[in-house]
Amino acid sequence: MKPFLHLCACRALSSVVALGANIICNKIPGLAPRQRALCQSRPDAIIIIGEGAQSGINECQYQFRYARWNCSALGERTVFGQELRVGSREAAFTYAITAAGVAHAVTAACSQGKLSQCGCDRDKQGYHNREDSWKWGGCSADVKYGVEFSRRFVDAREIKKNARRLMNLHNNEAGRKILQERTKLECKCHGVSGSCTTRTCWITLPKLREIGYLLKERYSEAVQVEPVRASRLRQPSFLRLKGARGYQKPRDTDLVYLERSPNYCEEDAATGSTGTRGRLCNGTSTLTGGCGVMCCGRGYNTHHYTRVRQCNCKFHWCCVVKCSTCSEKSEVFTCK
Ligand SMILES: *[C@@H]1O[C@H](CO)[C@@H](O)[C@H](O)[C@H]1NC(C)=O
Ligand SMILES: *[C@@H]1O[C@H](CO)[C@@H](O)[C@H](O)[C@H]1NC(C)=O
Repeated sequence: MKPFLHLCACRALSSVVALGANIICNKIPGLAPRQRALCQSRPDAIIIIGEGAQSGINECQYQFRYARWNCSALGERTVFGQELRVGSREAAFTYAITAAGVAHAVTAACSQGKLSQCGCDRDKQGYHNREDSWKWGGCSADVKYGVEFSRRFVDAREIKKNARRLMNLHNNEAGRKILQERTKLECKCHGVSGSCTTRTCWITLPKLREIGYLLKERYSEAVQVEPVRASRLRQPSFLRLKGARGYQKPRDTDLVYLERSPNYCEEDAATGSTGTRGRLCNGTSTLTGGCGVMCCGRGYNTHHYTRVRQCNCKFHWCCVVKCSTCSEKSEVFTCK
């Protein structure tokens, strides 16, 4: 997945963006109308959004580095990289992690004073609890602001009134919810020699890596859903668990999907699969990441590398260092 914002991802360009918001916002491919409007009214935020989406994609690539699907897709480039056409659990993961990535980046930027309309969480100032004698101090991450911003921007791309829209919105929300649940209270003690007579506390953001691992777990437990058409317009109005008796909603933090995943073995324009040809694999593992699974039985190529380096270095009086050279052999495997 290629990010959309390398055209203005570097800081030096931010002033240019402010001057030419119109030009820049019109150049970003695949923005929905409401996203373009938000881009024009908040050009400072669009850079942060781009960075947030990019960290989401990076995290996705990290989490799936040993899987057949490596977080890439064929097809049209959009705001958040290439979109998976199939409403699969992989698509679910990408939506959740980018929505969380954007909320995370915006919240962090607020705390660092990088955005004009937000800062530290103002509700978390002054005394919290006089009896326990701790009070809010430092800078509490205003995760509510970041989440709301992610909602406004990321969710605005869902313009088609179909089941996939409901799926995407649910997964976006799941990603943001998991981020919100993972904020932590951190405290510092004050008092004579660490006696902790008073404490100041603040809310911190989790690392996006932590959210990546949690969403990966959600991904393996993702639930299949189907749309329910409740309105007279026959448009899908909400989702329910597929195959469940009666009506059962998915949980807020579940990742949901509509369609089974392809096997991602071969390149396929219809599903967006890039296939696994040329992927690195592990020659000794029989699990995911092993060449058997990764190469789908097509076999693999072995590449031999030799690396020469200095080793066994000894110091001789006085003053020379003598080393011998060692060569290390390594093998790398790639799928046929
Ligand atoms: C994912 O795999 C495809 C197909 O082998 C490859 O072209 C692409 O560069 C890989 N992407 C990443 C991020 O590793
Ligand atoms: C390959 O898999 C084995 C067993 O799972 C593991 O011990 C080894 O570190 C892996 N090798 C690489 C290069 O990742």
